[in-house]
Amino acid sequence: MEIAGPGFLNLDLRDDALNARAAVLAGRPFPAVANGKTVMIDFGGPNIAKPMAAHHLRTTIIGDCLQRLYRANGWRVISDVHLGDWGLQMGQLIAEIEIEGIAPVYFDVNFAGPYPDEAPVSLDDLETLYPRASAACKADPARLEAARRATVDLQAGRPGYRALWRHFVKVTEAGLTREFASLGVKFDLWNGESSVDALIPPMLEDLKARGLAELSEGALVVPVARDDDKKPLPPLILVKSEGGVLYGTTDLATVIERVRDYDPDLILYVVDHRQHGHFEQVFRAAAKAKLCGKAQLEHVGYGTMNGLDGKPFKTRAGGAMKLFDLIAMAKTEAEKRLAEQGIGAEFSAEERSEIARKVGIAAVKFADLSNHRTTDYIFDLERFSKFEGKTGPYLQYAAVRIQSMLRKAREQGFEVGLPAVHSPEERKLILQLLALSDWLAAAEEKRAPNMLCEYAFELAQNFSRFYGEHHVLSEADPDLRAARLGLCALVLAVLTGVLDLLGIEVPERM
Ligand code: ARG
Repeated sequence: MEIAGPGFLNLDLRDDALNARAAVLAGRPFPAVANGKTVMIDFGGPNIAKPMAAHHLRTTIIGDCLQRLYRANGWRVISDVHLGDWGLQMGQLIAEIEIEGIAPVYFDVNFAGPYPDEAPVSLDDLETLYPRASAACKADPARLEAARRATVDLQAGRPGYRALWRHFVKVTEAGLTREFASLGVKFDLWNGESSVDALIPPMLEDLKARGLAELSEGALVVPVARDDDKKPLPPLILVKSEGGVLYGTTDLATVIERVRDYDPDLILYVVDHRQHGHFEQVFRAAAKAKLCGKAQLEHVGYGTMNGLDGKPFKTRAGGAMKLFDLIAMAKTEAEKRLAEQGIGAEFSAEERSEIARKVGIAAVKFADLSNHRTTDYIFDLERFSKFEGKTGPYLQYAAVRIQSMLRKAREQGFEVGLPAVHSPEERKLILQLLALSDWLAAAEEKRAPNMLCEYAFELAQNFSRFYGEHHVLSEADPDLRAARLGLCALVLAVLTGVLDLLGIEVPERM
């Protein structure tokens, strides 16, 4: 250590100190020591009968990365898909089904049940019924009124409507589980807006009794404005004048449910930044009513995914995109790229297809996560799928090349030792590896997946510099070779681990 002018200390890190730490890291690069804290992450948030829009893709990718990151950092994580299953769109569907005469039994007030087990509508039916219903409601106030009434009746517990609605939920859940699984995303809870139905009446009573909720133009609201607000914040509406509850009502009750069931330290809402005002209202109301327990509530917002035209991304036909279609598109692009690069030409068609799937998903996820989440970005599959530059496929390829080198080392019976500093390139690499836990902590603290992308990309670049300068398999000195192989193995473990946090899988070979 030396003093380098006023205000500066220079620390020189000795090789043996670095080596000792690198050896510990090599034993367990991701120790995930439990920190005793619980975080709930609310992401995904698809809506029944409405196809997933581009913003649902972003919440899914970012939210999944955060759940992986928090787990790696030792948190107990509970993720909740929080289905949109309770709003006006449910009433719109029910009213549409009644009008079209699709399943009269659910509307017959004299029917005593039990209702059929089999769903009267498929997921495809819902997806065609909903746009019809929504268009009709826009064009005709009477239809909108019917949908509103159906929503209120559903929420009030009308048996036929509940039974029909349960079918909507079931068919949608089955479809969504498959779509999410194809992206490698899992949720701990499949709760929805409706899950808190029973908590709402006592919550409303309590808020009224404590003078926190008041009537305003026939609606029940919680005022949440503060004197120092730059923009006026409207009150949180809990019950509309005609009786239905709203998005904010279910979100408020969900705070109660989560605190009751999991007593979290933190609840993250990974939702499009355009909903910021909504969350501000809900959080303020929750704080005012002291509903949060020890939990801190935080909206983790993100920007818009735009198309090449700079406007919010849509499919070629102009509609919202389905996850399946998007994954298929990404896979096709990956196939094209792999063929161009001559990668995997000698593999079976099946293996090539599996590689293309992983590469396609990596392209999409990495591109999404590598921008700071609050910035908008342009969805440009061609650019995302390149094997050079800061892309998912580049990093996968970097990892695969280290894998294949280590495979060769094993075949030749070479020893893999502990990493050690022998050159400036190795020092740089080891320093970066040792900073892993700091990066994981900082990415968590800022809820910033892009930092993980940054780290992975730099690691791959530092590795490629090292590999360009030094012999590994062709190194004649067995001790040096073993140390270098050990370094390669550690780089691979860390790179693969960080890619895993990004939700990206590394193919066996490519
Ligand atoms: N379903 C909502 C949407 O499509 C997202 C739900 C987000 N989570 C929440 N707790 N409000 O915009």
